[in-house]
Amino acid sequence: MSENKKQEKKTTSKHYLSGKEVRAIAKANAKEMRRLEKAKTRKADPSEYTTTMKDENNVLEVENLHSYFFTDQGVVKAVNGVSFNIPLNSTVGVVGESGCGKSVTSMSVMRLLQGPSGQIVEGSIRFKALDYKRDEKGKFIPVYEKDEDGNIVYEPVLNKKGEPKLDKAGNPVTAPKQLKDERGLGVYEKEEKVFDIAKMPIREMYRLRGRQMSMVFQEPMTSLNPVFTIGNQLDEVVLLHIPGANKEFAKKRSLEMLTMVGIAMPERVYASYPHELSGGMRQRVMIAMALACEPHLIIADEPTTALDVTIQAQVLDLFNDLKKKINSSILLITHDLGVIAEMADYVVVMYAGRVIEQGTASEIFHHPCHPYTQGLQKSKPTMKSKDKLFSIPGNVPNPINMPDTCYFKERCSKCIGKCSETYPGMIQVSPTHFVACHLYEEKED
Ligand SMILES: Nc1ncnc2c1ncn2[C@@H]1O[C@H](COP(=O)(O)OP(=O)(O)OP(=O)(O)O)[C@@H](O)[C@H]1O
Ligand code: SF4
Ligand SMILES: [Mg+2]
Repeated sequence: MSENKKQEKKTTSKHYLSGKEVRAIAKANAKEMRRLEKAKTRKADPSEYTTTMKDENNVLEVENLHSYFFTDQGVVKAVNGVSFNIPLNSTVGVVGESGCGKSVTSMSVMRLLQGPSGQIVEGSIRFKALDYKRDEKGKFIPVYEKDEDGNIVYEPVLNKKGEPKLDKAGNPVTAPKQLKDERGLGVYEKEEKVFDIAKMPIREMYRLRGRQMSMVFQEPMTSLNPVFTIGNQLDEVVLLHIPGANKEFAKKRSLEMLTMVGIAMPERVYASYPHELSGGMRQRVMIAMALACEPHLIIADEPTTALDVTIQAQVLDLFNDLKKKINSSILLITHDLGVIAEMADYVVVMYAGRVIEQGTASEIFHHPCHPYTQGLQKSKPTMKSKDKLFSIPGNVPNPINMPDTCYFKERCSKCIGKCSETYPGMIQVSPTHFVACHLYEEKED
């Protein structure tokens, strides 16, 4: 074999896999995917997935999350040991360049990763929910009205015609009177519970999605169903997630939500199909849908990327207003540092599936530590800068077969000896500021 051919073979085997290698990977993947899919559909005792928060002031604690895609080319470690918290009533922004695992992190929190190839492999996602209590048959437990002496109040039961129902002896049938809230809906017992979402069977997630946490997707046109009216789709959310809601209540609530998100003619939009609305209106509808059940946590994945700048500003204001109104927390995913600066209390910077820096918005903007975060700041256009805009050289490494060293090494201008040896651990630089970079270990020593 000529030297050239030998060299070509070497190159080929480095970048391409043989049929035999692909089959071996597929076989190993199939076994692992079967195991994880089985865990998703298993019948589990609630004790397996109920837990406690490490810090009571958090609504969400993501710890050492690993979410992988099992492909025939190898395992894509899209999220590779991510940890961060979302404190109650705060906005946490996740930034990072395209492909760094922001969406996969948010999809993992909602348990919406596309199986069987996409799976949470390891880690915890602790979520504090105010869930409805259930009896042994799985039904919600009503709260009954009580008189001054603490005795349950009974009321006559009515038949279909609205007349009092009588028993065989001709006496009116009575039943405990359920307490009604200010909207006229029956009140049910609630309890605070902490779930480890990563360990929950998928079926159990239905009780959290929509009612406790909801998501605003990046592209409203693909997330809304084109064959149903906006009203149908909004009503469905209300009917599905608010116990005791009837069609009349659902319509009232849907119109209320459309008004709340700043839609001028809610009746018209209610009767429209998604294609009849502008991009900004569709995004507002998505937000209305996400907020209809007043969730504790709103996950917004690039909620303003598809919108023009003026609508973008309006949507961000809307998020801030609504957050205060319904007392919830926001996980805001974007690659736009301007959006983060305006909205976030805390910032998590991701790179190649890992968190490389996190801190308060002020720490990340005014004292960025990681060379990547510093590069991101420098690549932001400003009114003052007249020079060519800075760009971080190079690309993110291949997510299959990531090196054991710092993933940013090939692009970093501050690289030191240690950077080629190990992946840096998280170093605390202030009570709220953490960075994964060997430079700060040096300072610690
Ligand atoms: N279904 C899939 N199969 C295989 N790999 C996937 C799949 N979905 C995502 N990935 C990989 O996971 C990694 C993270 O993707 P993710 O969508 O989370 O990026 P992102 O940070 O949201 O990027 P963007 O800013 O472009 O939305 C990428 O390397 C991507 O190629
Ligand atoms: S660990 Fe080294 S290579 Fe990585 S960002 Fe820090 S200085 Fe750069
Ligand atoms: Mg994304």
